[in-house]
Amino acid sequence: MSHFLPEFLQDVLPNIIQIFYLVATGFFIIGIKRLGSPATARSGNQMASLGMLIGVVVTLFDREIIAFEFIIAGLVVGAAIGIFAAKKVQMTAMPEMVAIFNGFGGGASALVAWGEFSRLSPALFDTQSLATTGLSILVGSITFTGSFIAFGKLKGFIGGGRIALPGQNIINLLLTAAALGMVGWFTVDPEHQVVFWTLFGLALLIGVLTVLPIGGADMPVVISLLNSYSGIAASMAGFVLGNNLLIISGALVGAAGLILTNIMCKAMNRTLVNVLFGAFGGLEDSTGPDTGDKTYQQTFADDVAIQCAYASKVVIVPGYGLAVAQAQHTLKEVANILEERNVTVKYGIHPVAGRMPGHMNVLLAEADVPYDQLYDMDEINPDFKSTDVVLIIGANDVVNPAAKTSPGSPIYGMPILNVDEAKRTIVFKRSMSPGYAGIDNDLFYSDKNQMFFGDAKKSLQELATALKELD
Ligand code: TAP
Repeated sequence: MSHFLPEFLQDVLPNIIQIFYLVATGFFIIGIKRLGSPATARSGNQMASLGMLIGVVVTLFDREIIAFEFIIAGLVVGAAIGIFAAKKVQMTAMPEMVAIFNGFGGGASALVAWGEFSRLSPALFDTQSLATTGLSILVGSITFTGSFIAFGKLKGFIGGGRIALPGQNIINLLLTAAALGMVGWFTVDPEHQVVFWTLFGLALLIGVLTVLPIGGADMPVVISLLNSYSGIAASMAGFVLGNNLLIISGALVGAAGLILTNIMCKAMNRTLVNVLFGAFGGLEDSTGPDTGDKTYQQTFADDVAIQCAYASKVVIVPGYGLAVAQAQHTLKEVANILEERNVTVKYGIHPVAGRMPGHMNVLLAEADVPYDQLYDMDEINPDFKSTDVVLIIGANDVVNPAAKTSPGSPIYGMPILNVDEAKRTIVFKRSMSPGYAGIDNDLFYSDKNQMFFGDAKKSLQELATALKELD
């Protein structure tokens, strides 16, 4: 492109490109900052997208760019897939989509590094470029296969429990050490084809073998970690290409992913080492829990309506079932009716409710639930003692008292929403089936609890009708 420009512009073009990269970086940083609050998240997303647009357009002016026909074809195909995916993918399938995007990000970085390496003679690479090429291939390939295994686990194609050979952790550590050794070898002897391909193969294998043993309930941590890996791989690819924007944006994704991983670990009271080397929870128990001779109370819309309408404070706890039922708009309608009756309505959001970080926030934002009614777990927990009714809509694990009381339980130690401290809890779900961790929930059998069976959207519609019919 640059040879179409006047000569004086060609001389200053590299500097102009760097200045635009700086501007794009500014948009990324402010965008990420604004993603920190639901109130500013939408504009943050737009700012970061604008930064990305500036980055893409400016990169097209780089001297080493490939033919424009290829770029345009890539843009059209990529945009078409993106638009199709964004429109078609159900809210409940978002985590799977994020897993795949991470995988593609990592795979793309590995391919960029490989492409750059095969395009130029190895003699043109200095030690630093060779090391970053090797690391980009290593981290990018691990991210690629690891993300597809995570996708399979979330989708249920692959069992959610621990799938591992005896001594798997040792095998994984040895393979990782061998792969790092290959990066070193490749750095000093880049012409050696066998070393290069062994590195590639080992990295792809490590991705599979490290994610397979991780338990289904730990997937939030794994997805955030893979997200971070995809950023690190992109940053490495930036070093290979000598592209500052890719280095910075990759580093931002890597750091943000690590912070999110830390938040997810804290939310589940797990250490990262524990997540990576010990399975926690799984999807395999599809037979449901053994409820023994425990009894529960069942309730119906008219009764729930009376209890809520005459309450002074109602807390709503949404969970994965709300997303499955797509009941967020009906839930908002119920909340509106209660507020018209001067009932205080708050929402208690557990950090791992649903199937991806921020799942419930996104869902409720879609229904225009005011942000100031959304309370994090730590904020809402002291409130439950003074709450008359808690409506638990399609949530299960995040309110399971076994996390506090049963040392043998797979979720023991995970902080939960203390709904059992409220005067009354009402659980909206279709059956007595367990949640994601596959374990029974003693809350359901408590004297203070009632079960309102049915699809959450249908039950909430019935509740809205019953509320409207009251006096
Ligand atoms: P879960 O424990 O998975 O429970 C969801 C409940 O929703 C189920 O018990 C199910 O019971 C009910 N449900 C499903 N479809 C429904 C419908 N149409 N209408 C009404 N109810 C419906 O959900 P949770 O409490 O949100 O906890 C999240 C779990 O997922 C945690 O274990 C967490 O670790 C894990 N996880 C989280 C993430 C992230 S990042 N958030 C990612 C992966 C895994 P019925 O079948 O009886 O209706």
